[in-house]
Amino acid sequence: MVDGSVTRGRVKPVAAGSMLYLDGVTVSFDGFKALDNLSLVLAPGELRCIIGPNGAGKTTMMDVVTGRTKPDKGEVLFDGGVDLLPLDEAAIAELGIGRKFQAPTVFEALSVFENLELALRNDRSVFATLAAVLSTEQRERIEEVLQIIDLLDVRFNEGATLSHGQKQWLEIGMLLVQDQKLMLVDEPAAGMTTGERERTVELLTSIAGERTVAVVEHDMEFVRALASKVSVLHEGRLLAEGSIDTVQSNEEVIEVYLGR
Ligand SMILES: Nc1ncnc2c1ncn2[C@@H]1O[C@H](COP(=O)(O)OP(=O)(O)O)[C@@H](O)[C@H]1O
Ligand SMILES: [Mg+2]
Repeated sequence: MVDGSVTRGRVKPVAAGSMLYLDGVTVSFDGFKALDNLSLVLAPGELRCIIGPNGAGKTTMMDVVTGRTKPDKGEVLFDGGVDLLPLDEAAIAELGIGRKFQAPTVFEALSVFENLELALRNDRSVFATLAAVLSTEQRERIEEVLQIIDLLDVRFNEGATLSHGQKQWLEIGMLLVQDQKLMLVDEPAAGMTTGERERTVELLTSIAGERTVAVVEHDMEFVRALASKVSVLHEGRLLAEGSIDTVQSNEEVIEVYLGR
């Protein structure tokens, strides 16, 4: 449904009911099309994997959604029709779109709890933030997220002491405390142990439903385990879409992944 209370941006009936709607998005860098007429629609609560070889345009797509890159052409609508194109990165983040980059950016000298506290307050001024007292509600929210990301037992340990996998989960937790509607997660499984991967599959699966999650990932076993709809990008275009079995048996996908 189109939300009539939306004041920022246009309301587009065609995107009604979607959480993210990209249509005909083209991004050129010196004449080279990093995205070429890309269309992609994510339903609310959906978990979607976005795969594709290096240079396919996956990062550029995320840059467009988060406002870092503005397309030459196309439509980018959020949450039933809010036009993201006139908005800058800060305004888009405020609407409820969060992004987890590939390399963890947790504060190593702060505890797990303090990292979540900072993210919750969304304030980069560390000392002012940590000096302020948390409300009961905020504390409960952080504890809830600590449970979801499985870091409750290590909540008072410094970020530096966490394993690579735990750092990735903490980053996901930092998006969760901010209560984002749409989470863009770049290669969460990279560098993880098998056990950490399995836990990450559970984590992402449990997060989706309440919120919409788009995961860029290269590891096919991981994508298979997520058991979500998969979109395959190639040369800035949508090559195939469907279940992992559907896309893995697609001739063009096989050619792109195996044929070189
Ligand atoms: N700022 C930029 N300037 C020039 N070319 C770029 C820029 N950003 C990305 N590209 C090019 O666009 C294509 C898509 O890149 P990218 O979105 O990073 O792909 P992926 O994340 O799927 O590997 C690549 O060929 C890349 O070299
Ligand atoms: Mg990339």
